Amino acid sequence: MNWWIILAVVAVMLAARWRKAGMLAWAVAWLLGMWVAMRYGFVVPVPASVIKIYMGIVVLSLIAYVLTDKDRIAEFWGPIEAFVTEPRYRLLLAATVLLIPAAVAYQIYAGMTAIPNAPFFARTVHPAPPDSITVHGSELALGTADNPYRELEETSPEEFEQRLENGRKIYFQNCFYCHGDLMGGAGMYAHALNPIPTNFQDPGTIAMFREAFLFWRISKGAPGLPEEGGPWQSAMPAWESFLTEEEMWDVIIFLYDFTDYKPRAVEMH
Ligand code: HEC
Repeated sequence: MNWWIILAVVAVMLAARWRKAGMLAWAVAWLLGMWVAMRYGFVVPVPASVIKIYMGIVVLSLIAYVLTDKDRIAEFWGPIEAFVTEPRYRLLLAATVLLIPAAVAYQIYAGMTAIPNAPFFARTVHPAPPDSITVHGSELALGTADNPYRELEETSPEEFEQRLENGRKIYFQNCFYCHGDLMGGAGMYAHALNPIPTNFQDPGTIAMFREAFLFWRISKGAPGLPEEGGPWQSAMPAWESFLTEEEMWDVIIFLYDFTDYKPRAVEMH
Protein backbone atom coordinates (compact mmCIF):
# COMPACT_ATOMS: atom_id res chain seq x y z
CA MET A 1 0.00 0.00 0.00
CA ASN A 2 1.03 3.60 -0.64
CA TRP A 3 0.03 4.75 2.83
CA TRP A 4 0.60 8.44 2.07
CA ILE A 5 -1.99 8.35 -0.70
CA ILE A 6 -4.50 6.51 1.47
CA LEU A 7 -3.91 8.94 4.36
CA ALA A 8 -4.34 11.92 2.01
CA VAL A 9 -7.66 10.54 0.75
CA VAL A 10 -8.87 9.93 4.32
CA ALA A 11 -7.78 13.47 5.30
CA VAL A 12 -9.75 15.00 2.43
CA MET A 13 -12.83 12.95 3.36
CA LEU A 14 -12.56 14.03 7.00
CA ALA A 15 -12.19 17.67 5.93
CA ALA A 16 -15.32 17.34 3.75
CA ARG A 17 -17.22 15.92 6.73
CA TRP A 18 -15.96 18.66 9.02
CA ARG A 19 -16.90 21.39 6.53
CA LYS A 20 -20.35 19.77 6.25
CA ALA A 21 -20.05 19.48 2.49
CA GLY A 22 -23.35 19.21 0.60
CA MET A 23 -24.57 15.82 -0.67
CA LEU A 24 -23.38 16.45 -4.23
CA ALA A 25 -19.86 17.49 -3.15
CA TRP A 26 -19.82 14.55 -0.77
CA ALA A 27 -20.71 12.05 -3.52
CA VAL A 28 -18.11 13.53 -5.89
CA ALA A 29 -15.49 13.43 -3.13
CA TRP A 30 -16.23 9.75 -2.51
CA LEU A 31 -16.03 8.95 -6.20
CA LEU A 32 -12.71 10.74 -6.71
CA GLY A 33 -11.30 9.52 -3.38
CA MET A 34 -12.06 5.87 -4.14
CA TRP A 35 -10.61 6.22 -7.63
CA VAL A 36 -7.38 7.80 -6.35
CA ALA A 37 -7.09 5.13 -3.64
CA MET A 38 -7.57 2.33 -6.19
CA ARG A 39 -5.37 3.83 -8.88
CA TYR A 40 -2.47 5.12 -6.79
CA GLY A 41 -3.00 3.55 -3.35
CA PHE A 42 -1.41 0.20 -4.22
CA VAL A 43 2.25 -0.45 -4.93
CA VAL A 44 1.38 -3.18 -7.44
CA PRO A 45 -0.59 -1.74 -10.36
CA VAL A 46 -4.29 -2.64 -10.21
CA PRO A 47 -5.74 -3.76 -13.58
CA ALA A 48 -8.00 -1.14 -15.22
CA SER A 49 -10.84 -3.68 -15.44
CA VAL A 50 -10.73 -4.25 -11.66
CA ILE A 51 -10.79 -0.48 -11.06
CA LYS A 52 -13.81 -0.22 -13.38
CA ILE A 53 -15.72 -2.95 -11.55
CA TYR A 54 -14.89 -1.41 -8.19
CA MET A 55 -15.89 2.09 -9.30
CA GLY A 56 -19.16 0.63 -10.60
CA ILE A 57 -19.85 -0.73 -7.11
CA VAL A 58 -18.96 2.66 -5.57
CA VAL A 59 -21.36 4.47 -7.94
CA LEU A 60 -24.19 2.03 -7.15
CA SER A 61 -23.62 2.43 -3.40
CA LEU A 62 -23.62 6.22 -3.70
CA ILE A 63 -26.86 6.15 -5.73
CA ALA A 64 -28.44 3.85 -3.13
CA TYR A 65 -27.23 6.10 -0.33
CA VAL A 66 -28.60 9.29 -1.91
CA LEU A 67 -31.93 7.74 -2.97
CA THR A 68 -32.85 6.34 0.45
CA ASP A 69 -33.72 9.73 1.89
CA LYS A 70 -35.83 12.63 0.56
CA ASP A 71 -33.56 15.28 2.13
CA ARG A 72 -30.47 13.73 0.58
CA ILE A 73 -32.11 13.70 -2.86
CA ALA A 74 -33.00 17.37 -2.49
CA GLU A 75 -29.51 18.18 -1.24
CA PHE A 76 -28.00 16.29 -4.18
CA TRP A 77 -30.11 17.93 -6.92
CA GLY A 78 -30.25 21.39 -5.32
CA PRO A 79 -26.86 22.64 -6.53
CA ILE A 80 -27.36 21.09 -9.97
CA GLU A 81 -30.73 22.75 -10.38
CA ALA A 82 -29.31 26.08 -9.23
CA PHE A 83 -26.42 25.75 -11.67
CA VAL A 84 -28.74 25.12 -14.60
CA THR A 85 -31.40 27.74 -13.76
CA GLU A 86 -29.84 30.65 -11.88
CA PRO A 87 -28.73 33.57 -14.08
CA ARG A 88 -25.49 34.13 -12.11
CA TYR A 89 -24.18 30.75 -13.37
CA ARG A 90 -25.08 31.47 -17.00
CA LEU A 91 -21.52 32.02 -18.21
CA LEU A 92 -20.22 28.95 -16.41
CA LEU A 93 -23.12 26.92 -17.78
CA ALA A 94 -22.34 28.03 -21.34
CA ALA A 95 -18.71 27.06 -20.82
CA THR A 96 -19.74 23.64 -19.49
CA VAL A 97 -22.07 23.03 -22.42
CA LEU A 98 -19.16 23.72 -24.77
CA LEU A 99 -16.63 21.85 -22.70
CA ILE A 100 -18.43 18.50 -22.67
CA PRO A 101 -18.51 17.98 -26.48
CA ALA A 102 -14.96 19.40 -26.63
CA ALA A 103 -13.79 16.76 -24.14
CA VAL A 104 -15.50 14.02 -26.16
CA ALA A 105 -13.95 15.39 -29.37
CA TYR A 106 -10.50 15.43 -27.75
CA GLN A 107 -10.95 11.86 -26.55
CA ILE A 108 -11.76 10.75 -30.11
CA TYR A 109 -8.88 12.79 -31.54
CA ALA A 110 -6.42 11.29 -29.04
CA GLY A 111 -7.67 7.80 -29.89
CA MET A 112 -7.32 8.32 -33.63
CA THR A 113 -3.85 9.85 -33.49
CA ALA A 114 -2.36 7.19 -31.18
CA ILE A 115 0.87 5.90 -32.67
CA PRO A 116 0.06 2.58 -34.32
CA ASN A 117 2.21 -0.22 -32.94
CA ALA A 118 2.86 -3.38 -34.88
CA PRO A 119 0.90 -6.25 -33.34
CA PHE A 120 2.98 -8.47 -31.09
CA PHE A 121 4.33 -11.46 -32.95
CA ALA A 122 6.28 -14.25 -31.26
CA ARG A 123 8.57 -15.50 -34.01
CA THR A 124 9.53 -19.16 -33.83
CA VAL A 125 13.28 -19.31 -34.38
CA HIS A 126 13.38 -22.94 -35.49
CA PRO A 127 10.03 -23.79 -37.04
CA ALA A 128 9.30 -27.32 -38.24
CA PRO A 129 10.48 -27.82 -41.83
CA PRO A 130 8.13 -28.99 -44.59
CA ASP A 131 8.12 -32.71 -45.50
CA SER A 132 9.85 -32.10 -48.77
CA ILE A 133 11.23 -29.26 -50.86
CA THR A 134 12.04 -28.88 -54.52
CA VAL A 135 15.40 -27.28 -55.30
CA HIS A 136 16.50 -26.76 -58.90
CA GLY A 137 13.85 -29.15 -60.10
CA SER A 138 14.68 -32.11 -57.87
CA GLU A 139 12.61 -33.06 -54.88
CA LEU A 140 14.19 -33.73 -51.52
CA ALA A 141 12.39 -35.52 -48.65
CA LEU A 142 13.74 -33.63 -45.64
CA GLY A 143 12.97 -36.42 -43.17
CA THR A 144 15.38 -38.87 -44.75
CA ALA A 145 17.71 -36.80 -46.92
CA ASP A 146 21.33 -36.47 -45.91
CA ASN A 147 24.36 -34.60 -47.20
CA PRO A 148 25.35 -36.69 -50.25
CA TYR A 149 29.01 -35.78 -49.69
CA ARG A 150 29.20 -36.55 -45.95
CA GLU A 151 30.27 -40.17 -46.57
CA LEU A 152 33.36 -38.95 -48.42
CA GLU A 153 34.79 -38.14 -44.99
CA GLU A 154 35.35 -41.92 -44.62
CA THR A 155 35.51 -43.17 -48.19
CA SER A 156 37.61 -40.45 -49.82
CA PRO A 157 39.16 -37.95 -47.39
CA GLU A 158 40.88 -36.11 -50.21
CA GLU A 159 37.68 -35.43 -52.08
CA PHE A 160 36.06 -34.46 -48.79
CA GLU A 161 38.87 -31.96 -48.20
CA GLN A 162 38.12 -30.39 -51.60
CA ARG A 163 34.43 -30.10 -50.72
CA LEU A 164 35.39 -28.43 -47.46
CA GLU A 165 37.66 -25.97 -49.27
CA ASN A 166 34.88 -25.16 -51.72
CA GLY A 167 32.49 -24.65 -48.80
CA ARG A 168 34.98 -22.24 -47.19
CA LYS A 169 35.15 -20.23 -50.41
CA ILE A 170 31.38 -20.09 -50.70
CA TYR A 171 31.02 -19.04 -47.08
CA PHE A 172 33.46 -16.16 -47.41
CA GLN A 173 31.99 -15.09 -50.73
CA ASN A 174 28.38 -15.10 -49.55
CA CYS A 175 27.68 -15.66 -45.88
CA PHE A 176 30.24 -13.93 -43.69
CA TYR A 177 28.75 -10.47 -44.35
CA CYS A 178 25.96 -11.47 -42.02
CA HIS A 179 27.02 -14.59 -40.10
CA GLY A 180 30.50 -13.22 -39.37
CA ASP A 181 34.04 -14.35 -40.11
CA LEU A 182 34.04 -16.44 -36.92
CA MET A 183 30.46 -17.67 -37.51
CA GLY A 184 29.41 -15.83 -34.36
CA GLY A 185 26.60 -13.99 -36.17
CA ALA A 186 28.48 -10.69 -35.98
CA GLY A 187 29.06 -9.94 -39.64
CA MET A 188 29.37 -6.37 -40.86
CA TYR A 189 25.69 -6.26 -41.86
CA ALA A 190 24.48 -7.93 -38.68
CA HIS A 191 23.89 -4.68 -36.76
CA ALA A 192 21.25 -3.56 -39.20
CA LEU A 193 19.26 -6.79 -38.97
CA ASN A 194 16.52 -7.87 -36.60
CA PRO A 195 16.51 -10.75 -35.91
CA ILE A 196 20.28 -10.86 -36.06
CA PRO A 197 21.96 -13.52 -38.21
CA THR A 198 22.26 -16.91 -36.53
CA ASN A 199 25.35 -17.51 -34.42
CA PHE A 200 26.50 -20.94 -35.58
CA GLN A 201 28.86 -21.24 -32.59
CA ASP A 202 25.83 -21.31 -30.31
CA PRO A 203 25.08 -24.96 -29.40
CA GLY A 204 21.36 -24.17 -29.91
CA THR A 205 21.71 -23.76 -33.68
CA ILE A 206 23.39 -26.03 -36.25
CA ALA A 207 24.57 -28.49 -33.56
CA MET A 208 20.92 -29.43 -32.98
CA PHE A 209 20.07 -30.11 -36.59
CA ARG A 210 20.51 -32.53 -39.39
CA GLU A 211 22.15 -31.32 -42.56
CA ALA A 212 18.88 -31.54 -44.49
CA PHE A 213 17.37 -28.94 -42.13
CA LEU A 214 20.20 -26.54 -42.97
CA PHE A 215 19.81 -27.34 -46.66
CA TRP A 216 16.17 -26.29 -46.38
CA ARG A 217 17.03 -23.05 -44.51
CA ILE A 218 19.86 -22.17 -46.89
CA SER A 219 18.09 -22.99 -50.15
CA LYS A 220 14.73 -21.41 -49.24
CA GLY A 221 15.92 -18.68 -46.81
CA ALA A 222 13.42 -16.38 -45.13
CA PRO A 223 10.85 -16.58 -47.95
CA GLY A 224 10.61 -20.35 -47.38
CA LEU A 225 9.80 -20.07 -43.68
CA PRO A 226 6.32 -21.11 -42.55
CA GLU A 227 3.99 -18.52 -40.99
CA GLU A 228 5.18 -19.05 -37.40
CA GLY A 229 8.76 -18.45 -38.51
CA GLY A 230 7.81 -14.87 -39.44
CA PRO A 231 9.23 -14.97 -42.98
CA TRP A 232 9.13 -11.16 -43.25
CA GLN A 233 11.20 -10.90 -40.08
CA SER A 234 14.36 -12.44 -41.47
CA ALA A 235 16.88 -11.18 -43.97
CA MET A 236 18.24 -14.66 -44.75
CA PRO A 237 18.35 -14.88 -48.57
CA ALA A 238 17.04 -17.88 -50.51
CA TRP A 239 20.36 -19.19 -51.79
CA GLU A 240 18.87 -21.53 -54.39
CA SER A 241 18.74 -18.43 -56.59
CA PHE A 242 22.52 -18.03 -56.43
CA LEU A 243 24.12 -21.36 -55.55
CA THR A 244 23.99 -24.89 -56.94
CA GLU A 245 22.86 -27.79 -54.75
CA GLU A 246 26.45 -28.95 -54.60
CA GLU A 247 27.63 -25.58 -53.36
CA MET A 248 24.98 -25.52 -50.65
CA TRP A 249 25.95 -28.99 -49.38
CA ASP A 250 29.60 -27.91 -49.46
CA VAL A 251 29.00 -24.80 -47.38
CA ILE A 252 27.13 -26.96 -44.85
CA ILE A 253 30.21 -29.18 -44.56
CA PHE A 254 32.23 -26.04 -43.87
CA LEU A 255 29.78 -24.78 -41.21
CA TYR A 256 30.20 -28.00 -39.19
CA ASP A 257 33.93 -28.27 -39.74
CA PHE A 258 34.64 -24.67 -38.71
CA THR A 259 32.50 -24.81 -35.56
CA ASP A 260 33.64 -28.34 -34.63
CA TYR A 261 30.05 -29.49 -34.30
CA LYS A 262 28.68 -32.76 -35.65
CA PRO A 263 25.39 -32.73 -37.55
CA ARG A 264 22.62 -34.77 -36.02
CA ALA A 265 22.33 -38.17 -37.72
CA VAL A 266 19.25 -39.29 -39.65
CA GLU A 267 17.08 -41.23 -37.22
CA MET A 268 16.26 -44.74 -38.40
CA HIS A 269 12.63 -45.75 -38.00
C1 HEC B 1 21.77 -10.68 -45.51
C2 HEC B 1 22.26 -11.40 -44.37
C3 HEC B 1 22.50 -12.88 -44.49
C4 HEC B 1 23.33 -13.54 -45.35
C5 HEC B 1 24.22 -12.93 -46.43
C6 HEC B 1 23.24 -14.93 -45.01
N1 HEC B 1 22.38 -15.11 -43.97
FE1 HEC B 1 21.90 -16.86 -43.07
N2 HEC B 1 20.63 -15.94 -41.84
C7 HEC B 1 20.45 -14.57 -41.77
C8 HEC B 1 19.56 -14.25 -40.70
C9 HEC B 1 19.10 -12.85 -40.30
C10 HEC B 1 19.20 -15.47 -40.09
C11 HEC B 1 18.32 -15.66 -38.85
C12 HEC B 1 16.86 -15.61 -39.18
C13 HEC B 1 16.39 -16.88 -39.83
O1 HEC B 1 16.50 -17.93 -39.21
O2 HEC B 1 15.91 -16.79 -40.97
C14 HEC B 1 19.87 -16.51 -40.85
C15 HEC B 1 19.73 -17.87 -40.61
C16 HEC B 1 20.49 -18.84 -41.21
C17 HEC B 1 20.38 -20.25 -40.93
C18 HEC B 1 19.42 -20.91 -39.96
C19 HEC B 1 20.11 -21.35 -38.71
C20 HEC B 1 19.18 -21.91 -37.68
O3 HEC B 1 19.68 -22.19 -36.58
O4 HEC B 1 17.98 -22.06 -37.94
C21 HEC B 1 21.31 -20.89 -41.70
C22 HEC B 1 21.63 -22.38 -41.75
C23 HEC B 1 21.98 -19.87 -42.48
N3 HEC B 1 21.45 -18.63 -42.15
C24 HEC B 1 23.00 -20.11 -43.37
C25 HEC B 1 23.54 -19.16 -44.22
C26 HEC B 1 24.51 -19.45 -45.24
C27 HEC B 1 25.12 -20.82 -45.49
C28 HEC B 1 24.75 -18.28 -45.91
C29 HEC B 1 25.63 -18.07 -47.11
C30 HEC B 1 25.42 -18.93 -48.25
C31 HEC B 1 23.95 -17.26 -45.27
N4 HEC B 1 23.22 -17.82 -44.24
C32 HEC B 1 23.95 -15.93 -45.63
C33 HEC B 1 21.00 -13.61 -42.58
C34 HEC B 1 21.90 -13.89 -43.63
